[in-house]
Amino acid sequence: MLKSVLTAALLLATPVMAETVKVEATLKADKAGPVINRNIYGQFVEHLGRGVYEGIWVGKDSPIPNTRGIRNDVVAALKHIKVPVVRWPGGCFADDYHWRDGVGPERKPTINSNWNRQIEPNSFGTHEFMDFLSQIDAQPFVSVNVGSGSVKDAQSWMQYMTAEPTTPPGAERARNGQQTPWSVPYVGIGNETWGCGGQMRADDYAYEFRKYAAYVKSSSGKRPFLIAVGPDTDDYAWTETLMKEAAWWRPAATPMMYNIDRPIMDGLSLHFYTLPSNTWQNKGVATQFGEDQWISTMKRALFMDELITKNSAIMDKYDPQKKVALIVDEWGTWYDGGPGGLYQENTLRDALVAAVTLNIFHDHAERVKMANIAQMINVLQAMILTDKDKMILTPTYHVFEMYKVHQDATRIPVNYTAPVYRYGEAEVPMISVSASRDKAGKIHVSVANLDPNRAIALDLILTGVKAKTVTGRTLTAPATDSHNTFTAPNTVTPKPATGVKLKGDTLTANLPAKSVSVFELQ
Ligand code: AHR
Repeated sequence: MLKSVLTAALLLATPVMAETVKVEATLKADKAGPVINRNIYGQFVEHLGRGVYEGIWVGKDSPIPNTRGIRNDVVAALKHIKVPVVRWPGGCFADDYHWRDGVGPERKPTINSNWNRQIEPNSFGTHEFMDFLSQIDAQPFVSVNVGSGSVKDAQSWMQYMTAEPTTPPGAERARNGQQTPWSVPYVGIGNETWGCGGQMRADDYAYEFRKYAAYVKSSSGKRPFLIAVGPDTDDYAWTETLMKEAAWWRPAATPMMYNIDRPIMDGLSLHFYTLPSNTWQNKGVATQFGEDQWISTMKRALFMDELITKNSAIMDKYDPQKKVALIVDEWGTWYDGGPGGLYQENTLRDALVAAVTLNIFHDHAERVKMANIAQMINVLQAMILTDKDKMILTPTYHVFEMYKVHQDATRIPVNYTAPVYRYGEAEVPMISVSASRDKAGKIHVSVANLDPNRAIALDLILTGVKAKTVTGRTLTAPATDSHNTFTAPNTVTPKPATGVKLKGDTLTANLPAKSVSVFELQ
């Protein structure tokens, strides 16, 4: 009896050796694909919860080290992941935002009507946003107010930002401290105008978009890259109407005034959030979830591929030359609970969601030219979490850091058949792979193992390239919900990959269960 109890105890204490699945893949380095636009690694920040206030802006008199009110620790962390572009000021807040409240010496506090009726001090306005971007070396993507604003407001904001100081709007900006005009390369015409941004029908918004597009220009006359509000998740009818009604200039448009070869709409947005349960009423929790929610989250994240494929097929009908980009300007996980302001914990599961989603964006690099994860700091699937003067980097941050090597690199095809990972009724491909060659000729291969129980022994056969060295890093952790905390900030951080080597023309690697790896070949 004692013996059998001891044996049972021993069995429980002995770690179960993870099963290993063999996967063979072929990298075709001589078959170059499109460039992976660095803007796919874009971010989104909204006046919501502690995203802007505390997350970025602490004010010039704060004891938290800052440069002109912007916290230094956050800037350093963001510079390290090479953030290319930041979308601001919303989200739903964009259609509630009146830019004049946030410029000049006297800021006008208002009520943030979308997010808990928080008082919006407007201390972080256009000048502070542009200063923040210059500190992190990123470009602005500004969303103008359609829902509660006007064409005139949007036009005057553009003039304020971009006019020479010798003009009245430029002189006003100069009086407020910025002599040189800013460049505003990306402009969103409203946000979710089918919902919080005005409750419009697709036809109504197509009409609004055309009107705004005629007036939203920089002062040099140059039109910024204009992004129209696209569908909510799988509302393909919205995509169809927008592409049909708003993508191109009217035939009567005067060619002298407009370059009619360039679409009126440069980009169409897509919003898609990964909810473990796929229902807004009961989304699923951020930590302490079971394997059922792990796999359902992976399945939902992978749905991004279908969404892009189907939206692109509609866009192809009206734009076979792919002049209009698909801009996934809100994506990421969204869970229940949290202390408010859409703050949520970010675990190893979020890292896997980020990795498979970025791999999907690479797969669609011909059409997807920008994406903005929601949201950069303290909100939803954040890169960074702060607690007053403390800051931690999330598992998602580490994926963006590991993957930055793909920015502006040329995609290379990888052929493989993914084994299936099953739990209950659900099944997903066990592995997701993407590869690219950077301008210096280095090849990077990013691989996610979605199975939380089984490792992968990867054989990647290299064709069209002779590699001499391989290095790599892997992000994994003991539990599916492992996450970094303010007391243990390094629980989930990348480590040198184990078991990675070159055997002739084959890269072999061990991909632990529930992991993300990036390998570099030279
Ligand atoms: O990212 C949070 C909110 O989600 C945004 O404000 C809105 O655009 C979307 O519904």
